[in-house]
Amino acid sequence: MPELSLTVNARAVVVDATREATLLHVLRNELGLNGPKYGCGLGQCGACTVWVDGVAARSCVIPAHGAAGRKITTLEGLGTRAAWHPVQAAFEEAQAAQCGYCLNGMVMQAAALLAREPHPSEERIRAELSGNLCRCGTHVEIVRAVQLAAS
Ligand code: FES
Repeated sequence: MPELSLTVNARAVVVDATREATLLHVLRNELGLNGPKYGCGLGQCGACTVWVDGVAARSCVIPAHGAAGRKITTLEGLGTRAAWHPVQAAFEEAQAAQCGYCLNGMVMQAAALLAREPHPSEERIRAELSGNLCRCGTHVEIVRAVQLAAS
C-alpha cells in the first residue's frame, strides 16, 4: 500500500493507504479519530465534515492521497473537554444535541463560518448549515448555539 503523509490536528503523520481510500476512512480507521462520522458516504449529509486548510469539507468524498500536504483539522483538533472551542461550548450550553450524530459535522461547519464571519445573521447561519442534515430536527437549537457562539 502506498505511504501517505498528512498533517492532522497540527501533527505530522504517515499512514499506509490505498489509492481508493477516502480521507474519512484514514482519519477514522487508521488514525482513530472518530470526530468525523460516516453518514451517507456521498458528500450529502455533512456528518464527516472536517477542515482542509481551514475550509469545511466532506471527508467521505475526498481521496486521502488528495489531502497530502494539506492541513486537516478534525473535531479532536478544534477543542478538548478541558478547553472547548467556543462553538463546542455554545452547543453544550444550548443543549443542541438530540442523538448527536450530526453534531460534530455541524460544529466543524459552524466554526468554519465563524472563523470567516464572526457575527453572521441567522439567515447566513441557516444557509451555511443547510447542507448538514439533522434527522432529529434540532435545527432551532443548533442555530441558537451558533448565535450564542457568535455573541
Ligand atoms: Fe460525508 Fe455524509 S458522510 S457527507
